[in-house]
Order: sequence, then structure tokens, then C-alpha cells
Amino acid sequence: MTLSDYRTLGKSGLIVSPLALGTMTFGNPSWGSPDDVSERIFHTYLDRGGNFVDTADIYSGGRSEELVGSFVRQSASRDRIVLSTKFGFNAEAGNPHAGGNGRKNIHRALEGSLRRLGTDYIDLYWMHVWDMVTPVEEVLQTLTDLVRQGKIRYFGFSDMPAWYAAKAGALARDGQLVGPVAQQLYYSLAERSIEREHLPAARDAGQGVVPWSPLAYGFLTGKYRRTSDGGLASGSGRLDKFNPMFPEVTDQHWATLAALRQLADESDYSMAQIALAWVANRAGVDATLTGARSVEQLTENIEALEVDLPREAWSKLDAVSRPGHTFPYHIFTPEVNRGVFGGQPVRAW
Ligand SMILES: NC(=O)c1ccc[n+]([C@@H]2O[C@H](COP(=O)([O-])OP(=O)(O)OC[C@H]3O[C@@H](n4cnc5c(N)ncnc54)[C@H](OP(=O)(O)O)[C@@H]3O)[C@@H](O)[C@H]2O)c1
Repeated sequence: MTLSDYRTLGKSGLIVSPLALGTMTFGNPSWGSPDDVSERIFHTYLDRGGNFVDTADIYSGGRSEELVGSFVRQSASRDRIVLSTKFGFNAEAGNPHAGGNGRKNIHRALEGSLRRLGTDYIDLYWMHVWDMVTPVEEVLQTLTDLVRQGKIRYFGFSDMPAWYAAKAGALARDGQLVGPVAQQLYYSLAERSIEREHLPAARDAGQGVVPWSPLAYGFLTGKYRRTSDGGLASGSGRLDKFNPMFPEVTDQHWATLAALRQLADESDYSMAQIALAWVANRAGVDATLTGARSVEQLTENIEALEVDLPREAWSKLDAVSRPGHTFPYHIFTPEVNRGVFGGQPVRAW
């Protein structure tokens, strides 16, 4: 597989590369990339055939969007790329109308993103996070209006319950509204919970899946070691400075890391490449977001699309990282399926 193995995002006409360029690092010299490195990362991605660029209104306080906008202009690539950004997180402490998924904030956020990106439309507009209060009907109606006005071409949902995306799909179909074309979710060998509800719901609704943080913020590259008390030893990487969503490193995480290390030692691939390839090749995944702090990291990650390992290697990773038993999902096994159908296994469409 290469960056030019284009595919549609879910059941839509939006055509994307198998790796999307995440730009959360852009314009963030603390744990990301300064402007000049961000620029080289962007052009390397485009030169290698990539067409799917992801940013958000809040990344680096808006600087990521400004940089992406200027790189798109420099490269005259606006008609070639799928430019995606997000709304939903708050931009102004103390002002509830500067965040959330209500109509008022969506319009405010979109105008800001269009200005910073220097464009008059967004190809794929993401609801960044479920705000837990706005009715899905309001979100759908607002985004449908924006599609009809030509300000956005498509939209998707990120970091939400599966039922919310499924309900949106059903409402859109029945109410003649535009529905979400994809879900953007955390998925890696260190976090596989979306396999329980989100992946089946996305398939059922014809929505694509775009995983984020496939390297678990850098943990799966092997740069971090375990301290004697079970914690995370400094690895000179992002988790040393910015670790918002990796509260606990479990025994299973360390066992997964050990299995990855062994496979890397026995092959020509790095741990990062194997971990990324695992996500990119999972059933139901359309395009995987890759984040890089340097051109070297990006190049290594693009080459992960070519990872070719025997079936036993993937089975080993699958087994060591499998999510634990949780009701009712632990009931849905081939054995129960056979039992339900009188000893005969039945496979669904
Ligand atoms: N929707 C959401 O809520 C959400 C949330 C998070 C991210 N995202 C999107 O997903 C994108 C990717 O997320 P992410 O940056 O967290 O992805 P990631 O792939 O899990 O982590 C990327 C980090 O890993 C390290 N790394 C990357 N490639 C490496 C390599 N080959 N060798 C060694 N280290 C390597 C770098 O950090 P160090 O060098 O510092 O270790 C890099 O910043 C973001 O840019 C953003 O677009 C979306």
C-alpha cells in the first residue's frame, strides 16, 4: 500500500489516502514541530502522494490552521487535498458559547477556521467531541445547512458514543438531512475499545473510520521504559511533556510493547511501523491519522504502509492486546453464535 492507494471515506464520494496527515504538532515547538519543520513535513506528505490533511481550530491555539492554510497556498494544492478541521472545544475561558456543538458555536468556529485557513470551504468538518448536551437533531440540521450553503462539503463525528453517530445516520436518512460520513476515534494496540461498538456501528451506517494516535502518543515506538514502580520512564518524547489521555500504563500495555519489540527485532521494520501498520490494516479502518515531529518520523510512518509480516505475527499482536471481558460483549463469541443456531455457525452479511 502507498499514500496514493486512494479510497472513498465510508459510503461517500470523498476520496482519501490511507494515511492522513495529523497536524496537531504544527506550530508547537514545545512537544511538536516549529514552523519550518511543519512546512517540510507538509510538503513531504504531499510529494509522496498524500491528499488528506487534518487540523482543528484549537491546535496550537489556531496556529496549526494558519500554517496549514499557508502551506496549501504555497503548494497550490487546494483542489487536490481533502482539508479537514474541527469545532467543539472551547476557545475562550468563561464563555460557554465559544465551545460545544450548538448552532451558535458551530457558526462562530467555522468562520474562524475559514479565516485562519484562508479558504472559503472545508472539505470535511469534524465535530471534535460530543458535548453531552446538544441534541443530535440540532447538530445535523446545522451541518446540513452548511453543506447546502457550500461552506463545508462533508462532515464527521469524533470522540462520541457509537449510539450518537448511529442515531445521526438514521435521522439523516429518514429526515432527508445530510449525515456524517465518518467517525474519528482513538485506536491503537494500546486502546481497542472501539471494536465493541464503534466499528460495527460505522460499518452498519456506511460511515468511514479514521483512527487517531495509532502510536499511542509515541508510547508504541518503544522510546519509553518501565520504572521500577511500574510507571513510565522518560523517553525524550511527547509523553514527557504532554500526556492528557494516557493516565495508566497497564501490564497489558507493557506486554504489547514487548511483543512489538520482538517482532521489530526479528524483521526489517521498526516498532512504530508495525504498530501503525496494525491499525492501518484493521478491518473497517479507512484512513489512519499519523502524527510526526520530524520529516524522518513521517517518512518512516509512510513506509509503514508497506509492512508485510506473516499472519502469525499479526495474530500474536492481536492476542496480546485484546480488550478484556466486558458485558455484554464477552457473550458475542463464535461458540455462542453456534449455540444460538443449533450447533451451526451462521455468518452475517
Ligand atoms: N479527534 C481527536 O480527538 C484527536 C486526538 C488526538 C489526535 N488527533 C489527530 O490525530 C493526529 C495524530 O495523533 P498523534 O500525534 O497523537 O499520533 P501518534 O502517532 O499516536 O503519536 C505521534 C507522536 O509519536 C512520535 N512519533 C511519531 N512517529 C514516530 C516514529 N516513527 N518514531 C518515533 N516516534 C514517533 C512523535 O512524538 P515524540 O517524538 O515526541 O515522541 C509524534 O508526535 C493528530 O495530529 C491529530 O490530527 C485527533
